[in-house]
Amino acid sequence: WLDKPLLGKKVVLTVGASYEAIDPVRGITNISSGQMGVALARACRQAGAQVDVIYANLQVPLPKGMAYTEQAQSAQAMYDAVFRRLDLGADVFIGVAAVADYRVKNRATQKLKKDGSGSPPVIELTENPDILQAVAQRENAPFCVGFAAESENVLAYARAKRAKKGVPLLVANDVSVAMGQSSNQIIMLDDEQETALPEMSKDAAAQAIVSRLATLLARSSD
Ligand code: PMT
Repeated sequence: WLDKPLLGKKVVLTVGASYEAIDPVRGITNISSGQMGVALARACRQAGAQVDVIYANLQVPLPKGMAYTEQAQSAQAMYDAVFRRLDLGADVFIGVAAVADYRVKNRATQKLKKDGSGSPPVIELTENPDILQAVAQRENAPFCVGFAAESENVLAYARAKRAKKGVPLLVANDVSVAMGQSSNQIIMLDDEQETALPEMSKDAAAQAIVSRLATLLARSSD
């Protein structure tokens, strides 16, 4: 970036796969590697922003030059960490993390044992807070960039998600192309346009997202 379009901006970003414990050794997670979020954190930094990263279970290293990093495994821990950072002031929030919609309600404090009865344990789930939606709907919300990871009807589900969560810029991707892979094929949805890009490296996709984010952010503060 020659013009550093995010110079002086503070960005808080979630990345990675949340982990919801069943017992001390088992849990529920997903196959997000963290590559897309790490590419975005790097692109924001290269665009001049100060970047705080709240991360879970990354399979790739964090980029250099981050202003603040904090590990938070579960959705609730990630939610708490994000709000602590936002309370210090932020211009942009980007939710790239694959966050579990549900956590285990009857989490066991000791390792579950086979009890010999032949009947498997029943895992009860309860809903997690939605970090992106809570950030987007809070008073004086930062400019929010969300993702929609879908396995079918990508555009239709992404439009509905953008409206439901109240997110100005939403990036839709198909999990079969995006999750755990080194490239991505994204559609960016905002109030003005829907931009479908061809498959490209996650670094290139991140630069396209940051470019659109910078344009919309400049316009929103006019
Ligand atoms: O990590 P990679 O292997 O590179 O893969 C990248 C990716 C596919 C994980 C990434 O591009 C992506 O799509 N991230 C969002 C994953 C996700 O949780 O999507 P979702 O459609 O379930 O959620 C929608 C949005 O709400 C996301 O911005 C998500 O971060 C956020 N969310 C969801 C649930 C929740 N409880 N809190 C949230 O903040």
